[in-house]
Amino acid sequence: SLCYLNGRYLPLEDAQVSPMDRGFLFGDGAYEVIPVYSRRPFRLDEHLARLASTLAAMRLPNPHAEQEWAAMVREVVDRNPWDDQSLYLQVTRGADMRRNHAFPEVVRPSVFLMSEALVTPSRELRESGASAVSAADFRWLRCDLKTTSLLANCLLRQHAVDQGCHETVLFRDGFLTEGSASSIFIVRDGVLLAPPKSHLMLPGITYDVVLELAAVNGLPHRVQEILEDEVRSADEVWMTSSTREVLAITRLDGRPVGEGRPGPVSEQMHAWYQAFKT
Ligand code: PDD
Repeated sequence: SLCYLNGRYLPLEDAQVSPMDRGFLFGDGAYEVIPVYSRRPFRLDEHLARLASTLAAMRLPNPHAEQEWAAMVREVVDRNPWDDQSLYLQVTRGADMRRNHAFPEVVRPSVFLMSEALVTPSRELRESGASAVSAADFRWLRCDLKTTSLLANCLLRQHAVDQGCHETVLFRDGFLTEGSASSIFIVRDGVLLAPPKSHLMLPGITYDVVLELAAVNGLPHRVQEILEDEVRSADEVWMTSSTREVLAITRLDGRPVGEGRPGPVSEQMHAWYQAFKT
């Protein structure tokens, strides 16, 4: 596939960065994953706005204006063979020939875009629903930033995979935060519930779309703190993300969620999302 690295478009196999890049040494970077449907990036402005806020919190000047980002995204999308893509975009604080935690005096950020074929959940997985395990959310206190420092998320995702499951649902101090790489919603008595945005979770772009679709379609919904017990006894639990869209979780820690099948509200939301995304 064709990627972009620091001013050049080139085959992914030929792209190289310095081992002194701070992304490599420190995980000192920001990223986005943007779904592309029929060659059109979905919610691009929102993804670029979230990138800008991650960069601002990192005190890393945004290397490109929004229009430049949009042009680069378009170029990478156009130069790759798939109609539906998962566009990956990363900015790190660049390379410095001395390893030093403090920022280099002159920062030349590394900018990288690549694309893969978008693989959304298969029909079989959507019909059976996904399986999840739970774990304590031991990440740091800035989970609202989309940084490449993802060791905790990787460990937490592997925890699910080790048990043959798809996702890990995280609880902090008895409250639901999110999944290792997804936002989590629950349904109780026909009401869609979402945890409030805070420093403890990523402000998901799909999360916003889901709440917008609930609002325009008159689905009862509330944003409120959700207790661990409320998740375990929910009628439905879902994960959402740019690549998984809306996916029901039908087993949690080996026990069925609700009836153990994707519930009607998740199926409705999935249908609304499919109609909306193109
Ligand atoms: N992850 N929470 C976490 C920790 C995530 O990593 C993600 C997405 C989400 C959902 O955000 P969005 O709806 O904007 O995709 C929530 C991406 C897909 C990834 O790391 O691959």
